[in-house]
Amino acid sequence: MKGHIFNLLEDFISQVSDEDTLYEILDQCSFDTSSSFVRTENYPDEHLLEIVNHTIAKLGITMETAQFEFGKWLYPKLIKLLPSEFTDFPHPAHVLKNLDELHKVELTKLYPDAKPPTFQYEVVNETQACLYYCSPRRMFDLVNGVLQGMAEHYDVGIQTKVIANWQGDENRARFELTYNQAPH
Ligand code: HEM
Repeated sequence: MKGHIFNLLEDFISQVSDEDTLYEILDQCSFDTSSSFVRTENYPDEHLLEIVNHTIAKLGITMETAQFEFGKWLYPKLIKLLPSEFTDFPHPAHVLKNLDELHKVELTKLYPDAKPPTFQYEVVNETQACLYYCSPRRMFDLVNGVLQGMAEHYDVGIQTKVIANWQGDENRARFELTYNQAPH
């Protein structure tokens, strides 16, 4: 995962706790954390997980809560990576329907060696849609959190029902979305 995400995770941890706690967590890690993560570099996913595992142990929260809260906090930070025309809409559906391309095309312009997840978006009716997420990282709770971050950012309610292991593929999940207002 990109150093950029590691940097954001560190910001998040120091915001929900404090800098001393962040340094204690980093000190517990089995890899070298003495220098900062470089934004454009790739680092092993296991290192990210190690930081998260030490954080949940220290803060006494579950992995599910950690991913969800980080995801929710993350959305307004992620959109700063792209020109506003990609994310400046009155409704989250406009971003979600382009999510795959956004990760695949726009993100790889910034970070050519990123390994982003894949998405598909399917409109069901005026206020319902399905988002299919696929990644060997299986960060389903993170997706749920980012969706709630979007709901807050666009001020549009999003109810989600997650079906993991979609069509027998453990890397895939289907998110059934119900908006409290139709996209316009
Ligand atoms: C709109 C602006 C967005 C930007 C700029 C963005 C950017 C990124 C970046 C830089 C990564 C790291 C990729 C890597 O290191 O390989 C990433 C991963 C990820 N993104 Fe996004 N993202 C955006 C929106 C979203 C949304 C709306 C969702 C979910 C609804 C989402 C879900 C994820 C997930 C779950 C990952 C973790 C990697 C994985 O699952 O394999 N992103 N994104």
